[in-house]
Amino acid sequence: MIIDRIVHRFIHRARREDRGHEHGHADGHVHDGGHENGGGHAHDAHGGMYEEGRFAGEHAVRYERRARSRTRFYRGIARDTLALAPEGGHVLDVGTGPGQLVLELARARADARVTGVDLEPSMVELAQQAVHQAGHEPRVRVLVGDVAVLPLESASVDVAVASMTAHHWPDVPAAVRELVRVLRPGGSLLVVDFRSAVEEQLTAAVASTAPGARVTRKVRWAWGLPALSTWRVELPSIEP
Ligand SMILES: C[S@@+](CC[C@H](N)C(=O)[O-])C[C@H]1O[C@@H](n2cnc3c(N)ncnc32)[C@H](O)[C@@H]1O
Repeated sequence: MIIDRIVHRFIHRARREDRGHEHGHADGHVHDGGHENGGGHAHDAHGGMYEEGRFAGEHAVRYERRARSRTRFYRGIARDTLALAPEGGHVLDVGTGPGQLVLELARARADARVTGVDLEPSMVELAQQAVHQAGHEPRVRVLVGDVAVLPLESASVDVAVASMTAHHWPDVPAAVRELVRVLRPGGSLLVVDFRSAVEEQLTAAVASTAPGARVTRKVRWAWGLPALSTWRVELPSIEP
């Protein structure tokens, strides 16, 4: 998709500048072509890239700096997420990074319980600090965990959101199975990401894991472009 290509190129350049032209790519997001496996890189299942340590240490600090300037982006996602959350509901932000979305979710709805989960301890540490400074504990917590093995009880989440993380998941079907496990019947999942990086695997995984689920997709603007998509997955309710 042409928009995807433009956005990847744009982010790729910003990322290179950020890292002093070190070998790398935008937000760790999508492979811009040319690099082969090696040097801690591995192609992920959907043609993107997964990098060990990509979000560790100083990278996490830099990512947080950039994320802090994207308030409007996270606020919009928080609004869409919370529209699906019942009063007093439990919201999961998976692949939460330094926690900007968790903060927006917590600010927007004082009744909601919010859990952030991220694979990278450096990111979790930054998010925990931000949550602590904002005084949101214990209603809001951030845990280290893999989307494919979430540290949460089954059917304990009302709404899960995944912002700009799904294209990093090496096994999208395993992630979707796990998200469906922790969501209650009738719960919802929102995925915000590059369309071409996620669409095929996500829709196939939902169809096989939760056959009765309703999936809708809409365009989401970012960087002044219709660069991203938001998938809304509504799980079927089980009648008592
Ligand atoms: C580009 S950042 C997005 C962070 C945040 N959601 C946002 O929108 O700014 C991707 C995040 O996904 C996390 N991540 C990647 N693979 C993951 C997995 N398998 N389970 C949980 N988190 C993961 C990374 O550690 C990183 O913090």
